[in-house]
Amino acid sequence: MTLPSPVAFTLNGRSVSVRADPMRRLATVLRDDLGLTGTKIGCDAGDCGACTVRIDGRQACACLVPLAQVAGGDVATVEGLARDGRPSALQASFLDGAAQCGICTPGMLMAATDVLARAPAPTDAEMLDGLGGVLCRCTGYRKIIEAVEGVARHSPARGWPAEPRVGAAVGARIAKVDGLGRVTGAERFGADEVPQGCLFLRAVRSPHASARFTVGDMRPLHAAHPGLVRVLTASDIPGQNRYGIYPEGKDQPALAEGVVRHRGEAVLALVGDEAALAAIDDAEVSISWQPLPPLTDIDAALAPDAPRLHESLARNVLVEGCVARGDAAAALEASAVTATVEIETTFVEHAYIEPEAGWARRVGDRVELFVSTQTPYMDRDEVALVLGLAPDRVRIIPSACGGGFGGKLDLSVQPLIAIAAWLLDRPVRAVWTRPESMAASPKRHPARIQATFGADADGRLTAAVVHGDFDTGAYASWGPTVANRVPVHASGPYVVPAVRATSRAIHTNNPPAGAFRGFGVPQVALAHEAAMDELAERLGIDALEFRHRNALRAGSVTASGQLLAASAGLPACLEAVRPHWRRLREEVASSPSAAPELRRGVGLGAMWYGIGNTSIPNPSTIEIGVDRDAIVTLFSGAVDIGQGASTVLCQIAADALGVPIGSIALVSGDTDRTADAGKSSASRQTFVSGNAARLAGEDLRRQILQLGEVGPAARIEPGAGRLTLVDDGRTSVLEVAELPPVDAGGVTSGGPSAARCVLVGRGFFDPRTTPLDGDGQGIPYATYAFGAQVALVEVDVELGTVRVERIVAAHDVGRAVNPTQVEGQIHGGIAQGLGMALMEAYVPGRTENLHDYLIPTIGDAPIIECILVEDPEPAGPYGAKGVGEPALIPTAPAILAAIRHATGLRIRRLPATPDRVRAAIRAAARVASA
Ligand code: FES
Ligand code: FES
Repeated sequence: MTLPSPVAFTLNGRSVSVRADPMRRLATVLRDDLGLTGTKIGCDAGDCGACTVRIDGRQACACLVPLAQVAGGDVATVEGLARDGRPSALQASFLDGAAQCGICTPGMLMAATDVLARAPAPTDAEMLDGLGGVLCRCTGYRKIIEAVEGVARHSPARGWPAEPRVGAAVGARIAKVDGLGRVTGAERFGADEVPQGCLFLRAVRSPHASARFTVGDMRPLHAAHPGLVRVLTASDIPGQNRYGIYPEGKDQPALAEGVVRHRGEAVLALVGDEAALAAIDDAEVSISWQPLPPLTDIDAALAPDAPRLHESLARNVLVEGCVARGDAAAALEASAVTATVEIETTFVEHAYIEPEAGWARRVGDRVELFVSTQTPYMDRDEVALVLGLAPDRVRIIPSACGGGFGGKLDLSVQPLIAIAAWLLDRPVRAVWTRPESMAASPKRHPARIQATFGADADGRLTAAVVHGDFDTGAYASWGPTVANRVPVHASGPYVVPAVRATSRAIHTNNPPAGAFRGFGVPQVALAHEAAMDELAERLGIDALEFRHRNALRAGSVTASGQLLAASAGLPACLEAVRPHWRRLREEVASSPSAAPELRRGVGLGAMWYGIGNTSIPNPSTIEIGVDRDAIVTLFSGAVDIGQGASTVLCQIAADALGVPIGSIALVSGDTDRTADAGKSSASRQTFVSGNAARLAGEDLRRQILQLGEVGPAARIEPGAGRLTLVDDGRTSVLEVAELPPVDAGGVTSGGPSAARCVLVGRGFFDPRTTPLDGDGQGIPYATYAFGAQVALVEVDVELGTVRVERIVAAHDVGRAVNPTQVEGQIHGGIAQGLGMALMEAYVPGRTENLHDYLIPTIGDAPIIECILVEDPEPAGPYGAKGVGEPALIPTAPAILAAIRHATGLRIRRLPATPDRVRAAIRAAARVASA
């Protein structure tokens, strides 16, 4: 075989020469042949921009460029931006909140470099044009725009932002503790590591939504592809071929057994040389299919003669939820006014820019996985189940997580790479393609909700009757969580004396629907907020005033009978947005539109959200150790998925311990080295793990002060091998190097003990909740977040397009531990809420890429004004609650209300795409003229 001729080019100022297929994509060459994994691959199809580099001074998608095209050229990647190990001014500027998960950051930095090279002070149009090719799913783009605009304020010489003083880390706008790797490209995501001798794994997936199948003879496939090492089927699985979130809901096979229940379900796994697997066409794999008529929606699944997806579930109902308080039907009957609304939503795809990826290897009688995940301990237990091993024989080492939003709470590559590595005793990696990620990962539940709310003549809510049916797809995933959380939240953040709220999660042959930022609450919020607007309108009360009158507040009792003792900041949020609400409404009423077809409108949405798991234990353990070198390390099992958990926990730990935040090192997520802090979901890490971090810091501080025999106000200064203690002007030294190592009998096997710690502080927190009774009465959450958003939109009534110009968002977060990160969460939540409202609709088999499935681009990003309301939560760490999911919930209701204000139309089927809006406008016009 003749070797290809080398291709020479300049890379980040150095000459390189690569001998590879000239048609090999530049992104692959950079990552696999040259080891520059800073260039990311989010789609491999030119849609996401994560692979953006500069070629001869112009930005380009490296996944679309063949190697031959850069011969003799000049290629610049993110690795070339830093100088002498220091981040460039642009990179430093991105540390101010422009990088959340960081997977888009290298591409965004290269695009921004391109923008600034052309226009050092870019106009808005130049900015949007230059950055428009790179998608970000986390930030909502505002802080990226600010970072590019603010680059002049940063210089490479300035380095890191100044540290807050000791004891003032909580509340400070510090940069992410793990931010540097995100802006330099050094952070290791799931696809960025290839262990020596690694095999690749590719699943063969069902093209049918429902089918029976038999696997044929694989010998011809092996003969045709010598690089194929093994074909795994369900019969190869050493343990239980059923996994799932709940002990009673383990219904999902790692590899299907004779029957598939959704398109994209894994049937076989091919393991071998990566190039050999790429050469295998699925049609070559001997599988004989017998397609069956699929149950494509809730109605089909509920039909009396519908086949059962799972034998034990009558009518395909996975689970039902209920909250009942008072006689809601009678109270509705007696109400002065009622409003009934119906809402229908569709599948929404997480569309994190990092597809699922990772590797596994066998180490003796254990197996280790390096994977992108939101929940290492749950992964550990599920992988152990599939392998038939005890959980402590599985180690999960989380990679950097390039976005999760709930989608990486389910297993993806984990079971198959673990099985392959275990059986073959070779490292095995897998990287899902974008279409594979979209076909096989869980989605937001499509919902069909009917809600009737009543109010008295004074504008006080009297009753609510709400029912929601949720398409939970083929497997349980987080369906039970959604079905249980929805009734609790269905009456909205309001005092409603009589409530009947019910829900069902129903199996269909659609992809599994799971956790997605809000667990069903964003869907039901559409219903209660539309009802609030209608009631206010009928009563002639301002929509904000109506909500304020009925808002839950300290001393209120919720629909589940819970007394809100404190920290219920909806009234404060509504007060905060009230001037903006008034001004924007007046502005819209008084200023003529720019063109006759353009109509502007202003809408309002409010929300509440229970922090943490619903009525089930929700524990977190955090440890902080001091080793013999006096290095203080936070051992945190709470995975940072871009939301900033690591930074927030370091801030809390620093203040509780009383040391500078810069003196704290971090070990994150590794199940061998950290205790179980629970999953990064349900907006729980700041509240739950934050409390555990605070308790761990306080515990360690107590131990240090006791050993040093100093008073409670003493200052602790970590130094080389010693802790200096300053108490009331007197200085003493604690020689930690002389202390004996901590006994290994702690909660972790390889954590602080293995790190040679001599002191360990431990914190455990489990929020106080109670189980719900048959009527959904009890204490489902220890605390709730509240918020209100005002949206200003412009509707083109000819085209049906909707442009969101501005959002004013007030959120009660208890205490903003890091205001920059809180704003980032609000911005990102708003962008996803906007996508849900206006453009995002996943259709199996039709929108399995980022070209047909639209998410907001920088051109869609509205101006956002954040107002942080701090109504301290007494049970929270320094008063903090959570904001990750709350930020998304009121956005779509506010946008729909604004469309209604602009056009008079109620859009009740999401997303409000131009064709739907235009059709609604035309239908209304026909009715008006009839
Ligand atoms: S990876 Fe190249 S555009 Fe998405
Ligand atoms: S920070 Fe942009 S995708 Fe996560």
